[in-house]
Amino acid sequence: MKKLRIGLAGLGTVGKGVYEILRKDAAMLSKRSDTIFEITAVAARTKKDFVDAQIKFYDNAVDLADDQNVDVVVEVMGGLTVAKELIEKAIKNGKKVVTANKALLAEHGSEIIELAQKYNGHIGFEASTAGANPVIKTFRESFISSEVTEFYAILNGTCNFILTKMRDEGLDYHTTLAEAQKLGYAEADPTLDVKGIDTAHKLVILSSISAMTKPNFKAVHIEGVDQVAIEDVKFADEFGYKIKLLAIYKNLGDKQQQSVYPALIPATDKIAQVDGPFNAVLVNTTNASWNISVGRGAGGLTTGSAVVADLLDIAMNRSSYLFAAPNAQLTEAKIIDLNNRQGKYFLRLTLNKEAAQKSDLVAKIFGDKIEISQASFVDKGEEIICAFLTDSQKEQDVIAVLNQLDNDLVKSAKFLRVEETHF
Ligand SMILES: NC(=O)c1ccc[n+]([C@@H]2O[C@H](COP(=O)([O-])OP(=O)(O)OC[C@H]3O[C@@H](n4cnc5c(N)ncnc54)[C@H](OP(=O)(O)O)[C@@H]3O)[C@@H](O)[C@H]2O)c1
Repeated sequence: MKKLRIGLAGLGTVGKGVYEILRKDAAMLSKRSDTIFEITAVAARTKKDFVDAQIKFYDNAVDLADDQNVDVVVEVMGGLTVAKELIEKAIKNGKKVVTANKALLAEHGSEIIELAQKYNGHIGFEASTAGANPVIKTFRESFISSEVTEFYAILNGTCNFILTKMRDEGLDYHTTLAEAQKLGYAEADPTLDVKGIDTAHKLVILSSISAMTKPNFKAVHIEGVDQVAIEDVKFADEFGYKIKLLAIYKNLGDKQQQSVYPALIPATDKIAQVDGPFNAVLVNTTNASWNISVGRGAGGLTTGSAVVADLLDIAMNRSSYLFAAPNAQLTEAKIIDLNNRQGKYFLRLTLNKEAAQKSDLVAKIFGDKIEISQASFVDKGEEIICAFLTDSQKEQDVIAVLNQLDNDLVKSAKFLRVEETHF
C-alpha cells in the first residue's frame, strides 16, 4: 500500500477535525484509496495535547514546505501572509497543497494559480467554500458540460443563523448577534461575517470557476447583514418574503454580476427555506438546469471531511484545472456596477405623520416615478413607518427617486433588493 505523508499547518477547529478524521477513519480511507495517510509534521503557534508526541512540530509553519518527510501540505491556519508564504514555497518545492483558505484564494488566487501552473502544482480547496457541501467538485466537474447562467448562495452560517433568529423571534440585529456569539455561532469580532466579506471570498471562488475568469475580489459589491433592521424582516414577512444574505452571480454575456447583499426572496423559493446555520448553493446551468446543495458550511469534522476528500483525490491522482479551465484560458472578470441592475426593490421609509395623508400616500411620496406592487404602513405615533415593493426597475432610477423625496414628508429611506429564483 502506498503512503501519503502529510504536513498539517493549523491545529484549530479545522486542523483538529482533519487530524481526528485521519486517525479514526484510517482503515476506511486506506481501503478506499489503497493509501496510508500519515501525518508526519504539524505546525501551530503552540503545541497541542491531542497531537501524538512522535509527530514533528513546527512553530514556524513555513518550515513544513522544506520538510523532506512531507508530500502534501494542508494549510488550515487562515490569514493572508504566513499561509501565502507556506503555500507558495510548498508549490515551488514540488509539494501538493490542500487549503481551506477562501480569503487567500479570493484575494491572491491569480498569483497562486499561475505559480501552480508553472510548477505543475496541485491545490485542493473544496473546504474553502460552503464547508462540507461539495460545491467546488460539483461546479468544476459535474457542471463542466454546461455553462453556469446564475447562482444564488447562502455561504455564511453565522449570518443565516442571525437572520433566521430575527425572523423567528422578532429580535433586533444587535440582540441576535450577541446571542449568536454566546452560542458560539459568531466570533468575538464578527466583522468578516456580518459585513459580508467572508461570503464575498467564497462568491469570488465559485464565480471564477463559473465564468472561467481570474478572481477579482476588489470589484465585488459587498453589503452585510448588519444593515438589516427588524422592521425590514417583519415587512418582508408580511409581503411573503424572507431576507437572506446572498452571494449572487449572473452571467450577463461578456460581463457578470458578482455581488453580496441581503435580499428579499419569496418565502416559497427553495433557497429561502434554508434556515439556521446551514449553507446552500442554488445554481442554474444551460444544460443541467437548476440544482441545490444544502449542508453544513462550518465546523471541525464537517470542514475537515472536505479537506480529507481532497487528500484522497491526491492519493488517487485525480485532478482538475483549478478554476475549471487551463490558466491561459482564464480571462479578466468584468463585473457590473449595480447601478445597472434591473430588478425589484423593497423600500422602507419613515414618514413625518403631520405631513402624511394616508389616503393618497403612495402617490404623494413617489408621484408617477415608480411602480409599487405592495405597500404596508405602521402608525408609530408621530411617525409612520412604511414599506413598498416596486416592480422591476433599474437601480440607478430607484436611487434617483429616493434622493429626490420630499424632506418634509420623508424623514429617512432605505432600500433592499429583491431576488426571485422561481425554483
Ligand atoms: N472553522 C470553520 O468551520 C471553517 C470552515 C471553512 C473554512 N475555514 C477556513 O479554515 C482555516 C482555519 O480556520 P479555523 O476555524 O480552523 O481557525 P482556528 O480555529 O483559528 O485555527 C487556526 C490554527 O492555525 C494556527 N495558526 C494561525 N496562524 C499561525 C501562524 N502564523 N503560524 C503557525 N500557526 C498558526 C493556530 O495556532 P494556535 O492554535 O497555536 O494559535 C491554530 O491552530 C481558515 O482559512 C478558515 O477560513 C474554516
